[in-house]
Formats: sequence, structure tokens, C-alpha cells
Amino acid sequence: MKPTFADRINDVPRSFLREILKVAVRDDVISFAGGLPNRALFPAAAIRAAADAVLTSDAGAVLQYGSSEGYAPLREWIAARYRARGLDVAADDVLVTTGSQQGLDLIGKVLLNERDVVAIEEPGYLGAIQAFSIYRPRFAGVPLTQGGVDIDRLAHVLRTDRPRLFYTVPNFQNPSGVTYSASRREAVARLARDTGTLLVEDDPYGELRFAGEAQPSMASLAPAHTVMLGSFSKIVAPSFRVGWLVAHGELMERLVIARQAADLHTSEITQRILYRYLGDNDIDEHIRHIRDCYGGQCRAMLDALAREFPAGCRHTEPEGGMFLWIDLGGRSSMAVFDHAIANGVAFVPGHPFYTGEPRTDTLRLNFSCSGADAIGEGIRRLGESIRAIDA
Ligand SMILES: Cc1ncc(COP(=O)(O)O)c(C=O)c1O
Repeated sequence: MKPTFADRINDVPRSFLREILKVAVRDDVISFAGGLPNRALFPAAAIRAAADAVLTSDAGAVLQYGSSEGYAPLREWIAARYRARGLDVAADDVLVTTGSQQGLDLIGKVLLNERDVVAIEEPGYLGAIQAFSIYRPRFAGVPLTQGGVDIDRLAHVLRTDRPRLFYTVPNFQNPSGVTYSASRREAVARLARDTGTLLVEDDPYGELRFAGEAQPSMASLAPAHTVMLGSFSKIVAPSFRVGWLVAHGELMERLVIARQAADLHTSEITQRILYRYLGDNDIDEHIRHIRDCYGGQCRAMLDALAREFPAGCRHTEPEGGMFLWIDLGGRSSMAVFDHAIANGVAFVPGHPFYTGEPRTDTLRLNFSCSGADAIGEGIRRLGESIRAIDA
């Protein structure tokens, strides 16, 4: 029997990325298509020790149901880390989520009625487009430029479309690698206040800065108008599926209700192992190590791009994170893709990251999973494929 599906799932685009990744796993392909943290950096031995310790000392509680809001000491750990950065966050403001991806789903569930407008960066994070799409909103895309979102376009969208929220990734954005400048952040915060718009500030990469100066979070500039999302996926390991959301008052109450209905709570055992890992190890030292590695990989990619890419292509210069963005200057990214796969290199064409009219001459490169030699060779192959399209 073929079930009749609900409209809300019929409308959600199938993940194009998954199809791409299937081709990218061939042994002879150097892949810049994935979006994964580097597995060589997972602190496996320390996590094993933490798992052993919590199961030895307190197995009954570790294996029991936990609280909807999350393991209290972990919530306090997250809040204290924000306070150390000057943000006024209490443990009660933190909801531990099953990855920050669940935070996006809960925000959609609690805030979006069908046909409501969601303002989102273009290009934007595919996982957010997918999570919000379930609630059948209309998207208003706002272009990203070097230095952050286009403020005039954002002002226009916030004033005329009256979106329920503006979803933003201000640090080393996925997919573009763009970071908002201080002035752009202030302008966004001012607009949020003036128009009464909620900012959803998603910051899974914020701690992975390897160049430039730290910038203030949106939450510090417009605290009453911002919900923050964070994650341990990129600084410890994504398989924990532990992220969080910072919200206040009635919004927090509704989010907790929605999360109870979804999955009761985030796995208690993973929260407790993670908390023990954080207590027994120097997480800042670990993050410095990740940053140094990704910084080196990013530099290797930027050097190779300067050497190998033809005129007319442009790229972002990430100050952190795991991605950079290529503008092919009018060339079709799908035509380059077909040639590149045959030539042994993979990337993600840019068009799925647009909610409005897509640009077909852009692409995303991931630099966190390949060593310097593979990066050099992969970019050489990609440059060759772009030239082949020109010929
Ligand atoms: C911008 C952004 N938000 C959220 C997520 C989801 O992360 P998590 O593993 O915490 O669910 C990702 C993962 O790649 C991401 O890039």
C-alpha cells in the first residue's frame, strides 16, 4: 500500500547534498563536497575514559530518563561559557537540544504558521531551509556579500514582508564562509529592534576562528530580539547530537513543550559523557588544535586557488569554520561538476542553497577533511575542469 503523505512532507525538497555525497565517496575522487568535521581530530581516547567514568560511578542515573531542558550541570557549563564572553545567560535560559538541528525544528514548530515569512541569507544553510520548510513558510532570501548580509535588502524585507524571524549564521557561514563585520552586526541588530524582528543566531562555528578579530554576537547587540543556537558537533564530535538553544520567558516555555512532544529529552548518557569529558579535559586547548588544523587547510586551499583557478573566478576568504564559496563568474557549476567528477574531484554546486532565484554559477568547497597535498591536487583538478568548460 502506498501511504498518502501529508502536504508538509510532500513540499520539502529531497536533500540534493545526499545525492552528491554518494558520487563523492568513490576512492579516486578527492572530495570537497562533504560538510563534516575532520575525524582525525575527534578526542576518542578522552571520550572513552569519560564514558567509562560515568558508567562506573553513576550508572543508574546515567541510564535513566532525564529532564526535558537537559542535564543541569551541562546547562550551567554552557551558560558560564557565555558569561565568560560577557553575555548575560543563566542555566535556565539554556535548552539542551538533540543537535542544533533540533533547535531549528523546534523554532519552526513554535513560531511558524503556514505561509509565514522566514527571512534567510542567500546562500543559506541547507539544514535550516529543510527544517523550516516542514512548516510551509514563504522564504525571503537576503543576499550575502563580503562582510555580511546586504543591509538595504534586509531592511526592505523586514519592513515589507514582516518575517517571523531572520535566520542568520554570522560567523564563517555555511555554505559561504562569510563573517559579518562589526558594523554589519550593529546594523542588523538595529533593524531587528526597529522592526521587532526575532533574530535566530546560529553559531556552530564561532569558536573555530583562525584569522581576524572576534566580533560581538547578535545576542550581545539585541538581547531581547535574539535566540542563539550552539553545538558541540564542531568542537567535540557530532555523533553526540548535543546542541543547545538560548531563549527566555514564554518562548522558552513553548520550546520546552514542543521538545517534550518531539523526543522527551536529549540522550542522558551522551550529555553526561560529554559533561564528564568537558570537566576532565582542556576544551580550549582542544579547540585551539582544531583551529590550527583548519587554518592550515584553509590556507592551503587559498594558495591553491590563487595558483590554479582561471581569471574571472572569485572566492571568499574565510576567517574560520570549514567552508569557502566560489563565484565562477557566469560559468555553470553543474557543467563544471560533471567534468570535475570525471576528473576525480567533487564539490557542492551552489544552487540548492538559494531559496529564491538560484545562482547557477556558484559552488561550495569544504576544506576541513583533506590534507594539504590532497587540497593542492584537488584544486588543480578543479581548475582544469573549469578551463575545460571555457574551451
Ligand atoms: C549552520 C549550521 N547550523 C546547524 C548545523 C547542525 O549542527 P548539529 O550537528 O548541532 O545539529 C550545522 C551543521 O553542519 C550547520 O552548518
